[in-house]
Amino acid sequence: MFRWPLTSAKGVEFELRLLELRDAEALYALADANREHIRPWLPWIAWTHSAGDVKKFIRAALKQFTEGDGFHAGIWVGGEIAGCVGLHAVDWQNQHVAVGYWLGKEWEGRGLVTEGTRAVARYCFETYGLERVEIRAAVENKRSRAVAERLGFTLEGVLRRTQRVDGRWLDNAVYSMLRGEAERLGG
Ligand SMILES: CC(C)(COP(=O)(O)OP(=O)(O)OC[C@H]1O[C@@H](n2cnc3c(N)ncnc32)[C@H](O)[C@@H]1OP(=O)(O)O)[C@@H](O)C(=O)NCCC(=O)NCCS
Repeated sequence: MFRWPLTSAKGVEFELRLLELRDAEALYALADANREHIRPWLPWIAWTHSAGDVKKFIRAALKQFTEGDGFHAGIWVGGEIAGCVGLHAVDWQNQHVAVGYWLGKEWEGRGLVTEGTRAVARYCFETYGLERVEIRAAVENKRSRAVAERLGFTLEGVLRRTQRVDGRWLDNAVYSMLRGEAERLGG
């Protein structure tokens, strides 16, 4: 499956690699060790209780990829999985897609997600030929919003109470980039 070697602005060499079933144990171990870190922002951690649950997610993600409908990649540094970056299902009618990401806490601050998201956004424009790539982040999620802002996405507004995560309502900041703006990705 695909391997995508990248170097972050902080000089860290890493790879995006399409998630495969054999990654389930390592990915579950990372998510399980980072429950407190992930729980305020991402709902799926609440119903992820085993490597078997992660396998179900990876099976669906592989089907999504083979159907040309987006993908989910592990972020690998050396032999260790640091997190994921992936695409929600592509809306082909309207030619847009949303990107999502997360890292284990110990992997923050190295530029992995900014660089990984840059590569994925470029792929959306160049390979899928999409018109719009979106990033949504809770208003209070400063680190996630900083990724979108660093990459030159435009803040369109705030969707109020659009997500219920960990018993709280989240307002989401919506960022987008259009195909004609892709040169802003730079890098
Ligand atoms: C959101 C999340 C992935 C962001 O992680 P992150 O480590 O802040 O993001 P990156 O990997 O891009 O690293 C950012 C660092 O690289 C630096 N960096 C990245 N690209 C850079 C560039 N082009 N030039 C200079 N510095 C750069 C940033 O300044 C930042 O450094 P700092 O931490 O010293 O300020 C992480 O906080 C997380 O997983 N949170 C929990 C789950 C979550 O919220 N997911 C998103 C839901 S919407």
